[in-house]
Amino acid sequence: MTAQKNNSPIGIFDSGYGGLTVLKEIVKQLPQYDYLYLGDNARAPYGTRSFETVYQYTLECVKHLFEMGCPLVILACNTASAKALRNIQQKDLPNIDPTKRVLGVIRPTTEIVGNYSKTKHVGILGTTGTVNSNSYPIEIAKFFPEVKVFQEACPMWVPLIENNEFNNEGSNYFIEKHIHQLLKKSDKIDTIILGCTHYPLLVNKIKQYLPHNITILSQGEIVANGLVDYLKRHPEMESRLSKNNQLEFFTTETPENFNEQASRFFGKEIKSKHLGL
Ligand code: DGL
Repeated sequence: MTAQKNNSPIGIFDSGYGGLTVLKEIVKQLPQYDYLYLGDNARAPYGTRSFETVYQYTLECVKHLFEMGCPLVILACNTASAKALRNIQQKDLPNIDPTKRVLGVIRPTTEIVGNYSKTKHVGILGTTGTVNSNSYPIEIAKFFPEVKVFQEACPMWVPLIENNEFNNEGSNYFIEKHIHQLLKKSDKIDTIILGCTHYPLLVNKIKQYLPHNITILSQGEIVANGLVDYLKRHPEMESRLSKNNQLEFFTTETPENFNEQASRFFGKEIKSKHLGL
């Protein structure tokens, strides 16, 4: 009997390169599955765009991932999780295909953050869209009502990464500025969430401006742990996923531009394909 070709990868979506920080950790913990990464680099950043625009762009990309065979899509982007996830889950999925699933990155992060903070003062660094949506304070209050949340929007950080300008001195100004502004909001902050999947790419620079006693939480490992747990609790989804250890990458930009930067971030050579929207 010949094995039937089963191509049902997990879709990982981000506005650009940031989702690679999540995919990297997911692949570490769950190497057996197939993954299809889609970066909407041509339209990044999402962080300064309106609710409606982020929702439309995200929905369009999720539909493409479904068409390419993904039964499960992770929005590895806080901005999309904050502005599009609920609508997609509640309004669109029942019409597109009620057996498919879309998950975000905010919920798994807010479920555990209170376990890290002793002072119960938590800082969030995120895009303007994520901060203005108030998703973090709202979600954290559900799990840890005693935690006080302080937010700072860093609108320049994603463009610096997307344009490969984050490793120079000019970027230091913007990094220091927002860390300083966040810490001014409370001197009791002992835990900071990097609430944008691009920000782990700046972590060494961020550390330079942060006191050593502050814990930095990046989402890659948190989201990977959440996915391990989700697949245990949902065997009906787990059994649909194909397991050939394959990774495929798509970008809405030119692949040549994407490949170089993405390979550096991912730590492995990436050969992407172009996805026309
Ligand atoms: N990685 C996205 C996030 O987590 C970046 C959003 C953007 O494109 O501005 O929010």
